[in-house]
Amino acid sequence: MELPAFPLVQWFAAAEGRFEFSLSHSDCEPLSVSDILGDAEQKTLANLPLGYGTFAGLEELRQSVARQYATLKQDDVLIFGGASEVIYTFMRTNLNPGDEVVIQAPIFNSLKATAQAIGCQIIEWRPTNELTCEFDVSTLIDLCNEQTKLIVFNFPHNPSGQMISEDELISIVETAQKYDAMIFSDEQFRLLELPESPRLPPACDVYDKAVSVAGVSKTLGLGGLRIGWLATRNRDLLKRAREYRYYTTEMTNTPCQMLAAQAMKHHDEILTRNRKRIIHNLKQLQAFCLRHKQYLDLHPPQAGPMAVVEQTTSFTSTEFCQRLLDEQRVMLVPGEVMGISNRLLRIGLGRDDFSKGLNRLETFLQSMPAAN
Ligand SMILES: Cc1ncc(COP(=O)(O)O)c(C=O)c1O
Repeated sequence: MELPAFPLVQWFAAAEGRFEFSLSHSDCEPLSVSDILGDAEQKTLANLPLGYGTFAGLEELRQSVARQYATLKQDDVLIFGGASEVIYTFMRTNLNPGDEVVIQAPIFNSLKATAQAIGCQIIEWRPTNELTCEFDVSTLIDLCNEQTKLIVFNFPHNPSGQMISEDELISIVETAQKYDAMIFSDEQFRLLELPESPRLPPACDVYDKAVSVAGVSKTLGLGGLRIGWLATRNRDLLKRAREYRYYTTEMTNTPCQMLAAQAMKHHDEILTRNRKRIIHNLKQLQAFCLRHKQYLDLHPPQAGPMAVVEQTTSFTSTEFCQRLLDEQRVMLVPGEVMGISNRLLRIGLGRDDFSKGLNRLETFLQSMPAAN
């Protein structure tokens, strides 16, 4: 199996060490070890035995993860090295060449690329409006049939922050049930809904052939721990994923699981702080885009730490972002690497230094050649 290039990650990798501010990361403000551990807990970490851990993952972590789901127990949760490992493992253990997969697009690259590399037949569920990334669930339902093996989606959506309603989620589940298809629901940004947005139930709570994937990277700002999880009531799916891993990482590293478990104790408090920051940054972005409406048009998000902005300069978004990086040392992701219109920019709303990045972007826009 040959994996294709990963344009989003390649973009980040090429910019590594070259930017001072990011206006595009999808995570919330990163926490440090001392934000998570008090003195006593730092001692516990210092004395933590570093022998092999358990195959299923740290019990305390799985318990606190399971509490996020209405119908799950700790044994319905498997801990992995980030949501990325969950995606790869799930696709490898459940899909075969020729399987029909209905998948939202644009979507975080590996969700589609892994299924494609396995040789699946990919049927894309595209937005009704490619610039705002609004999705119509009735078109997804029309794409499904008796051959559908798997339905894949991500809400709150990366990069647009668009959502669907709970009724729409239920109609996707009913369609999956009708065709006996699995659902893979990427819920990395769940719990970061804006105040007026609905919060969807996790797919694994409403369907027993659904997998929910989430983790601590985005919502808690702990991407460096590389902790994510697969949550499902389906024991066959869990068993396949667990046994595949005997050939890869075997289990997830113990110190990071311990740190994630400690952070989960302060879960509500961290999320409240992160939601507040997102709302604050979104207000700044709205004002900024109004001030620069000659060049920028914000398509407001409903949930999550990201939004898309349409830029109408004489540059493509790739050129725009490259110049911004070279001239102002600010990181922005162009639509092209997300598989959307290259007039769009992905804006990350989760970071503390957002206004500093905006100031640099302002300087950059002021240097634009005047429109004819
Ligand atoms: C929608 C989505 N799913 C999964 C991931 C992978 O997350 P992790 O860093 O936990 O592997 C990302 C990372 O950007 C993402 O945006």
